[in-house]
Amino acid sequence: MILIDDRFLPESEASVSYMDRGYYFGDGIYEVFRIYNGQLYEKPAHYERLIRTAREVKMRLPAPIETIDDRLTELLERSGVRNGILYVQITRGVAPRSHAFPPAETKPVLLAYCNELERPVGKMQSGISAITLPDIRWLRCDLKTLNLLGSVLAKQEAAEAGADDVILHRDGIVTECSASNLMIVKDGEVSTHPADHLILHGITRAVVLRLAEENGIPAHEIAFSLEALRQADEVFLTGTTMELFPIVTIDGVSVGGGQPGPVTRKLQAAFEKTIP
Ligand code: PDD
Repeated sequence: MILIDDRFLPESEASVSYMDRGYYFGDGIYEVFRIYNGQLYEKPAHYERLIRTAREVKMRLPAPIETIDDRLTELLERSGVRNGILYVQITRGVAPRSHAFPPAETKPVLLAYCNELERPVGKMQSGISAITLPDIRWLRCDLKTLNLLGSVLAKQEAAEAGADDVILHRDGIVTECSASNLMIVKDGEVSTHPADHLILHGITRAVVLRLAEENGIPAHEIAFSLEALRQADEVFLTGTTMELFPIVTIDGVSVGGGQPGPVTRKLQAAFEKTIP
C-alpha cells in the first residue's frame, strides 16, 4: 500500500513522473517515523521537523499538516504494520528540468508507505563497528532533504571496509553518523555535537538527552574532537530505527574494552521504557 498525494494505491500501481524534481535534483524533503505497537513514536516532533525543513527550503506542503496527518494515519491503519517505519517524502513537484523553482502552481508530490521492521535487538546488545571519514556533506545538514549522496558515499565506504557505519568529522570535529547522531561518554558524562547546521537535529537524540537528564547523567551539547572520540569510555549512536547502538570498534580499535558500556546500557533501558 503506497500513498501518493491523496490516493492509496497497491505497490504495482504506484509510480511517479520522470519529471519529478526529487528525481532530478533531490529537490525534496522526508521523514522516517518509528511505528511501535501501531503508533507513530514522537509524532509531533517529526511533524515539527518536516514543517521546519519545508520552510527552510521554501517548499509549500501539499496540504495542511492536519490533513497530511489524517492521510498518514489512514495509511498506517490500512498497512496493518504494528512495528516498523513510516517513510514520507514530499518533492517540489513535476516540471521540466530547470534549476530554479517551477511555476507557483506546481503541486508538491507526497509519497508515503509503511514497512515492517523489528527492533534490532541483536545490534543493540552486541554493538557495531564504525570507521571515521571526513564529512563531505553540504552545510545544511539540519535539513532532512533528499540530497543524501554524501551519506550514501560514506555508508558505502564503511560497507567496503567491512564496518557497520561511519563516524563523520569536519576539520577534526566529530559531527554525526551516516544516518544517526553520535554521542560519547567520558567519566560518566555524555557529549554530543550541538544542534546547529552541521547535524540533523535527531528526534532520538533529543529523547536521549532528556532521558540523561531524568536519570542524573550529565549531558553536554558540545563539539568534541576525533581525539576525544578515540579516548571516550563509551560511544553510541542514536536514530529512529536503531534507537541506541553501542559502537564498540572504531577504525579497528576497540572502545572501552569492546563491550557496550554502563551509561549506554542505562540509557537503552530508559529508552525502552518510553516505547508505548
Ligand atoms: N536518519 N542524522 C542523520 C544524518 C540522519 O539521517 C538521521 C535519521 C539521524 C537521526 O535522526 P532521528 O533520531 O530523528 O531518526 C541523524 C533516518 C532514519 C534515515 O535517513 O533513514
